[in-house]
Amino acid sequence: MHIYNFDKVVDRRNTGSLKYDCAAERGMPDGLIPLWVADMDFPTADEIVRELTDRAAHGIFGYSEPYREYFGVLRSWISEYFCADVEKEWLIQTPGIVFALANAVKAFTKENEAVIIQPPVYYPFSEITRVNGRRLIVNNLVNKDGVYGIDFEDFEKKIVENDVKLFLLCNPHNPVGRVWTEDELTRLGGICLRNNVVAVSDEIHANFVYKGHKHVSFLSFPEFFPISAVCTSPGKTFNLAGLQLSDIFVPDPVLRGKFLAEHRKSGYSQLNSFAHAGALAAYKFGGEWLRQLLAYLEKNRGFMKKYIDENIPAIKMHPPEGTYLAWLDFNGSGISYCKRRNAVVDKAGLWLDKGEIFGEAGAGFERLNFACPRSVLEKALIRLKDGIEKLK
Ligand SMILES: Cc1ncc(COP(=O)(O)O)c(C=O)c1O
Repeated sequence: MHIYNFDKVVDRRNTGSLKYDCAAERGMPDGLIPLWVADMDFPTADEIVRELTDRAAHGIFGYSEPYREYFGVLRSWISEYFCADVEKEWLIQTPGIVFALANAVKAFTKENEAVIIQPPVYYPFSEITRVNGRRLIVNNLVNKDGVYGIDFEDFEKKIVENDVKLFLLCNPHNPVGRVWTEDELTRLGGICLRNNVVAVSDEIHANFVYKGHKHVSFLSFPEFFPISAVCTSPGKTFNLAGLQLSDIFVPDPVLRGKFLAEHRKSGYSQLNSFAHAGALAAYKFGGEWLRQLLAYLEKNRGFMKKYIDENIPAIKMHPPEGTYLAWLDFNGSGISYCKRRNAVVDKAGLWLDKGEIFGEAGAGFERLNFACPRSVLEKALIRLKDGIEKLK
């Protein structure tokens, strides 16, 4: 069995990387350790690199459709990791999940109609709602000692009061790291069903779930098929975000028709050739790489929790149940927003995502992406500790 080396530090500069090459464009100083955007600092599986290299060597990059065997391979993956059976006609491919979410907003709501989200949540959820002229309704998650839960009463009340038409669910949840349980999803789905709200479940983080937790897909609830769509992608799982391929399942023919009609209006048809080659190789050969990656990430998560508990009293960290994103709580520290940012960016030299971009409910937090070699994580944590101490 091939053993992957996740400790190896790879120089990602000068690859057109959003994470490494765009600091100035994003108003950040050069030379920071970038642990913000959610991609990983690990090369993908060798088998995927080989397929992409072979595809490149072929030299002809005409319009491409998914390989014949793709759906069968994808179906097996969904069966194993999402515990669900999917049909070929449910599948619509889009260039990324955010594209699909924006498409869903346009397909399932009209201008001025309401969309509900659960902040603090991945910021494009609010952005695509607002820029498309829809009303944003928030059902804030409830933080109890670092573990977030859902206020179901508030969820239904807001839906009824605002005549909400669409719910964008983050499952597992970025940035709070919850892996929603069957019970929680049953309750959310039930509320959507009885209020005729379409639920779009973004499951891009589904493969990052740690011991003691289990990803439950919205695809495993046939009773919700009339009101649901599920977004999946190899982008996060195999670090292929730049290939921009996602697989959206819309089981209900009426919803699917609406989604497809909007998709056609975008003028987008075939995805790029490398996306097809990469996704097929990932789902066909990537299982062992993913298994080893998860073990490494779980150790990074534990390493980080221990380091923070022992060395940085200003921060509280509850280990995420899923995702490779740590949600660091500065709220009990008495450090103001400006001082916190000064400590993180200027004194520690780290580029993290500030919690405020995930909605008001994210105030006082920083999100740190720990999908990097442990030596980089350790260096970042030492710098964070020193940066906060320098505030004194
Ligand atoms: C919850 C969630 N959805 C979607 C995306 C982005 O997906 P894509 O690159 O396929 O548009 C991210 C990336 O961080 C994410 O965290």
